[in-house]
Amino acid sequence: MKTILVTGTNKGIGLEFARQYLNEGFKVIATCRNLSKLDGLNGLVNSFPDKISIYQMELLDEKSIEDFSLGIKDIPIDIFINNAGVTFGYSRNAKLSNTGISLNKLNAFGHIQTENWLPIFKANCIAPLLLAQLLYKNIMLGKEKKMVFISSKPASISENTGGSMYMSRSSRSALNQVIKSLSIDLLGEGISVASISPGWVKTDSGGLNALIDVNTSVTGIRNVIENLTIKNSGKFWDYNGEFIPW
Ligand SMILES: NC(=O)c1ccc[n+]([C@@H]2O[C@H](COP(=O)([O-])OP(=O)(O)OC[C@H]3O[C@@H](n4cnc5c(N)ncnc54)[C@H](OP(=O)(O)O)[C@@H]3O)[C@@H](O)[C@H]2O)c1
Repeated sequence: MKTILVTGTNKGIGLEFARQYLNEGFKVIATCRNLSKLDGLNGLVNSFPDKISIYQMELLDEKSIEDFSLGIKDIPIDIFINNAGVTFGYSRNAKLSNTGISLNKLNAFGHIQTENWLPIFKANCIAPLLLAQLLYKNIMLGKEKKMVFISSKPASISENTGGSMYMSRSSRSALNQVIKSLSIDLLGEGISVASISPGWVKTDSGGLNALIDVNTSVTGIRNVIENLTIKNSGKFWDYNGEFIPW
């Protein structure tokens, strides 16, 4: 039985990954940053008590990442999906921050502040690599040997015609560069690596105006993961199987 590790599984795309893989008979290791806020995961725990295990993991806390890695010991992981992350700039109805400024506005020229940018960069770019380093031993024990990082189409520099979204675009463009290096460094180990955009998806991050639902996004990404091999490692995919220019 294959084992999938998915981060950020209490809601949205991460929860849908857990749901679809469990229904397909996989074992799922699911991380959440707040174990008292499992949200939709509670239903999956009731339906698949022997196939799902849940761990706490906060991307902004290195000790939490290390504790998680120690907690799963030497469990073989076939597919690692780095899903947890932050998206700013899609939802027109983004919640107001405690300063009263729209979260989208915080991502716009004239409003950028270091204190807002750094945690996004850490969660979207630095923490995924730290996690990959710690999970390397588990991936090497798995059969599939796949590392998948949920990125975002606005990370593409050549497709940036809309401007703005400074924090989300830059953190994911940097993540894409990390993914490319990782794919080269891990080629000899037989680990295939992919950057995948989920599309514009109706979730808390994507907002109500988004174009697709979580089922469409995750079904597409699972097909991409199925087609991921060492030969096409190190590419930037769209959820529908097309390649996105860097
Ligand atoms: N929806 C879209 O259109 C879209 C487009 C491009 C990329 N993405 C990316 O797709 C991934 C899934 O997003 P989604 O649409 O499903 O959004 P979502 O419903 O808001 O879910 C985001 C998940 O990431 C977790 N998370 C956020 N910051 C974290 C941190 N510092 N440490 C640990 N977990 C953290 C959240 O946990 P909490 O519930 O505790 O906050 C939640 O589980 C994210 O990386 C997002 O940036 C989404």
